[in-house]
Amino acid sequence: MSTSNENDGAAPQRITVVGTGYLGATHAICMAILGYDVLGVDVDPGKVDRLARGDVPFFEPGLPEKLAEAQATGRIRFTTDFDEAADFGEVHFICVGTPQKPDSYAADLRYVQSAVRELASRIHGDALIVGKSTVPVGTAADLAELADEVSPEDARIEVAWNPEFLREGFAVDDTLHPDRLVFGVASEQAEATLRDVFSPIVDEGVPVLVTDIPTAELVKVAANSFLATKISYINAMAEVCEATGADVDSLSAALGLDDRIGSRFLKPGLGFGGGCLPKDIRAFRARAEELGVGDAVAFLAEVDAINIRRRTRTVDLIRELVGGDLAGKRVAALGAAFKPNSDDVRDAPALDVARLLYLEGAHVTVYDPEANSNAHRAYPDLDYADSLEEAVVDADVVALLTEWSEFREASPASLEEAGAHPRMVDARDVLDQEAYVAAGWEFRALGRPAPQAGRVAARVPAH
Ligand SMILES: NC(=O)c1ccc[n+]([C@@H]2O[C@H](COP(=O)([O-])OP(=O)(O)OC[C@H]3O[C@@H](n4cnc5c(N)ncnc54)[C@H](O)[C@@H]3O)[C@@H](O)[C@H]2O)c1
Repeated sequence: MSTSNENDGAAPQRITVVGTGYLGATHAICMAILGYDVLGVDVDPGKVDRLARGDVPFFEPGLPEKLAEAQATGRIRFTTDFDEAADFGEVHFICVGTPQKPDSYAADLRYVQSAVRELASRIHGDALIVGKSTVPVGTAADLAELADEVSPEDARIEVAWNPEFLREGFAVDDTLHPDRLVFGVASEQAEATLRDVFSPIVDEGVPVLVTDIPTAELVKVAANSFLATKISYINAMAEVCEATGADVDSLSAALGLDDRIGSRFLKPGLGFGGGCLPKDIRAFRARAEELGVGDAVAFLAEVDAINIRRRTRTVDLIRELVGGDLAGKRVAALGAAFKPNSDDVRDAPALDVARLLYLEGAHVTVYDPEANSNAHRAYPDLDYADSLEEAVVDADVVALLTEWSEFREASPASLEEAGAHPRMVDARDVLDQEAYVAAGWEFRALGRPAPQAGRVAARVPAH
């Protein structure tokens, strides 16, 4: 990919990115790499200071290097000053959070509203405000009205939506080489601006879908709902396997080899979490109900419930393995982040399991290669270890809750040598059950029968 838009000799275009969390910081840094002059804006001065010092405030592989590269070009700055942001350029991306409301399933839109209010009230002349945050359908129309209400008379502001599909852990690559770009626009002018801004990516042949704004808003929640449904589908099959002695691992492999189904997102385990899928499916339900089409997505309630049941089922397996009572038992909880290669503990299944174990009186020691400090902030009552070896010392049972490669690659012998009692619950279905059993471990995995002598082990082709 050409990594600059400066080939015509014109001054690079200027872009602001409002909200510099996981999404916004990545977007801002990648836009600077692509050749734009970028101003990142956040209300959190601590975050702004760290980014300005070249320190990415969260774990994302490759992003610190990209920030250093962008800063070396002098094309990126960070500020808390909305006056500066409104003056900076004509394209403003909104990347602030849209968490679940504390008292309902709906999305809390106060941050996007505040970002648009702060920006629009200071804009003079032409501007395109491009939402990237995940929002309920209809939000952009309300924000356009808000911008109109608060902006000075000489402002001509248009709102567009460009939903973001990046995955934490792959954020840089997903931003620079996305599967597709979706431009939700209300005018040809807005489409032309977005095509121009994303030209280094579009020129690579990345498909662009130009839609009306409500469709663009919906694409993101529809995609996340589909992914969540696929994960919960296989986890529902795991529940049935648990009741019948069947093996969900083999079942999933057999289903996944069908081209019409596909194996991705068909991995049984502890289910989904994080700052997106859980709150997005809930917000979708809430919005659909407001629109009078709640029945159309009522199934998402079951998708959510299946997902949460995997957490209690994991606790059940751990309890069973230590003899039926968790009180006073030492559990090594491997993993806290909602998925590997991330330090994000928002709605993390691993931490939820650790918390449930703690509530039953277990002595829980958590170890995550990157998420310990975020986890400690969320759950200070749990114990935290600085290494895998330290976590498993004297553990009555080890529970693999986030599938970091460090845990996948640890050998059963080394864990036992480090002091673990040889009992393993693999809640992510990633360990070599036969190797653990051969090394003398009692081994349980979600959706899989307990290993028994003489049972035919499933042979799943590598794919
Ligand atoms: N994290 C992901 O992988 C991902 C992927 C796709 C879409 N999204 C969506 O992107 C949005 C942001 O998610 P995130 O994970 O980056 O959240 P985040 O919490 O990491 O970042 C949000 C940032 O917005 C800042 N902020 C809040 N109010 C502000 C305001 N008025 N002005 C300026 N900054 C403000 C916060 O201080 C914070 O730094 C959400 O809608 C999310 O659903 C996230």
